[in-house]
Amino acid sequence: MNTTTVPTVDPKKVEAFLGRVVTDFGAAFGVALGYLGDRLGLYKAMAFAGPLSSDEIAIRTGTSERYVREWLINQAAGGYVEYDEATGKYTLPNEQAVALTDDTSPFNVSGGFELINALLKADDRVKDNFLTGGGMTWGEHHHHLFEGTERFFRPSYIGNLLANWLPAVDGIVERLKKGIRVADIGCGHGASTIILAEAFPNSTFVGFDNHQPSIDRANQIAKEKGLDKRLKFQVASAQDFTGTYDFITFFDCLHDMGDPIGALKHCREHLSEDGIIMPIEPMGGRTTKENFNPVGRIYSGASVFVCTPNAVATGGYAVGTVASDDVLGEVAHLAGFTKFRRATDTPFNRVFEIKK
Ligand SMILES: C[S@@+](CC[C@H](N)C(=O)[O-])C[C@H]1O[C@@H](n2cnc3c(N)ncnc32)[C@H](O)[C@@H]1O
Repeated sequence: MNTTTVPTVDPKKVEAFLGRVVTDFGAAFGVALGYLGDRLGLYKAMAFAGPLSSDEIAIRTGTSERYVREWLINQAAGGYVEYDEATGKYTLPNEQAVALTDDTSPFNVSGGFELINALLKADDRVKDNFLTGGGMTWGEHHHHLFEGTERFFRPSYIGNLLANWLPAVDGIVERLKKGIRVADIGCGHGASTIILAEAFPNSTFVGFDNHQPSIDRANQIAKEKGLDKRLKFQVASAQDFTGTYDFITFFDCLHDMGDPIGALKHCREHLSEDGIIMPIEPMGGRTTKENFNPVGRIYSGASVFVCTPNAVATGGYAVGTVASDDVLGEVAHLAGFTKFRRATDTPFNRVFEIKK
């Protein structure tokens, strides 16, 4: 007699799950088509312009009306634009226009499309990583990742760094005003370093990153802004940068490092006695379960595609993008620090303060 139990499947639960998957299929196209809207200037053409037809948008952007027409249907289905059936015209609401086109706004999310699309190009490598346990360095990704990261993170730094994050760190605003030496480790294109340098003219700043093209771009931006006297960007890793600093920052990069303990140990040796380290890390739960939400979904996805592969490729001590406060505190402790605390947070970020 066959004793195999047939698994019970509740058709209603299957349907509900399929609903989730269908939403994700649409979201995947939303990211891909959002990227096209950003890249081709379609959102910019529609921003604060009132109702426009697909013809008018195509003419303004030098694109093919036939494709713009299809793109607009997708955008309306996703709630990005509004459609007026009577005129056949589409409007990008002002709120969406700010979020999708205003490079100076803390609400701007357009870099996210570029970032995610760049990461997804590495799908074959990521699949191989699962099979081999290998990694992939930051610099091996499509170059849009570097610009997309700068564009995606800068709005959050514009909105939070000076207003909320620095004031939460023990006395650092006063010290920055008076004039101290600052190192920004893993600075990428220098979005954070530049905001700091512009805000605190009495302090000096060095941005370090081990990715040469990012440092070249950061130096170019600093020069264009006339900041290159007080602000330098140099190629160096977190384990071999030189100099002594009073304030060392890590913006969204400590968890990317293959040797975060070695990185913090090196910082300890290059930190003044009363110096402070401020790692800004992605939001992560205190328990695994606390990551089961939309933000945790994004960051754990980034962990698989970019952060963990970089850590595996460059040292192997991969804490993951949503490493808990306890894990990060242990890293600081093993590096020889006695004081570690979460100074503040936002829905997307945690701000830590580390002292000797
Ligand atoms: C997610 S990006 C963040 C870039 C920048 N801090 C920002 O917020 O826009 C991570 C950066 O860390 C850098 N990075 C990773 N490991 C590093 C290491 N061991 N030393 C220096 N930089 C490193 C990468 O090259 C990359 O630019």
